[in-house]
Amino acid sequence: ADVEQHAATGPLPPGDRIDELVAAAHRRASSHGDGVVADYIPILAEADPEAFGVCVADVDGGLHEIGDTRVPFSIQSISKAFVYALVCDALGHEQAFDVIGVNNTGLPFNSVVAIELNDGHPMNPMVNAGALAATALVPGGTAEDKWEAVRSGLSRFAGRELVVDEDVYRSEAETNHRNRAIAQLLESYGRIRVDPLEVVDVYTRQCALLVDARDLAVMGATLADGGVNPLTGERVVSASVCRDLLAVLAATGLYERSGEWLFEIGLPGKSGVAGGLVTVAPGKVGIGTYSPPLDSAGNSVRGQVATAYLSRALGLNIF
Ligand code: DON
Repeated sequence: ADVEQHAATGPLPPGDRIDELVAAAHRRASSHGDGVVADYIPILAEADPEAFGVCVADVDGGLHEIGDTRVPFSIQSISKAFVYALVCDALGHEQAFDVIGVNNTGLPFNSVVAIELNDGHPMNPMVNAGALAATALVPGGTAEDKWEAVRSGLSRFAGRELVVDEDVYRSEAETNHRNRAIAQLLESYGRIRVDPLEVVDVYTRQCALLVDARDLAVMGATLADGGVNPLTGERVVSASVCRDLLAVLAATGLYERSGEWLFEIGLPGKSGVAGGLVTVAPGKVGIGTYSPPLDSAGNSVRGQVATAYLSRALGLNIF
């Protein structure tokens, strides 16, 4: 009943029309009560399941937002996309392809089986194995240097200084045995060549960076804008890094649901287990949503519904 006709792709409508469509997306998605708030990281279970914000940031710096777009939450897996961009910038196209990979595993994001089935190759940077391998490759001689590169790099995407939620960091650090196992397994295959537990620590901090739906929209708009943040005017990464990242997101951004997502929405996106979702319409907009209840793959239910509506109503589908 919620299926809309796709608007023809073309230029964006005027700003006040975008505002109306963002409000309509929020209204429609609000009635979707499905999904479960993540609790495998204990503190995430305390999130308000009714919190819901939608923001569209266009590449000219315009913001269109409604609902809880200023409620902070931990970025979680969405950080993987932006850290991968920083690593691509440092490694280059060929090396990033060889070392981290670009193919979907078809398995959950924290799968150990996927690593074993692929001779220890992490497969792609959006599952935990590939994200840990990517964080290990962030430029910097020490874990502290790598962390600073991650924090400052993601802050440039957002256009403001991002800070860690220390409670989320601690809650995950106390319970992330599986990620430690994954990092050590990668070390055993020679895929991580620095201290694997230090890598997990930097990764856990990066996942605990606080953002809001507006930040996600701006971060997405930076990717839509070929690597230039439309609010600050700063070039964060090259256009070719953006293109590489968006291709990987199209294939893997919603984990084993990436095919369904692309079929319905037709845009690269990335989800996080705290309820964030970022979507990129190249040359046009970034969309940031926040709603904690998740589907069984770990993707925000209302975020997906709102983004599907906007993709259709704004004519964003790239296919
Ligand atoms: O490593 C983890 O499990 C979390 N820090 C991030 C997982 C996540 O966000 C998966 N997303 N949908």
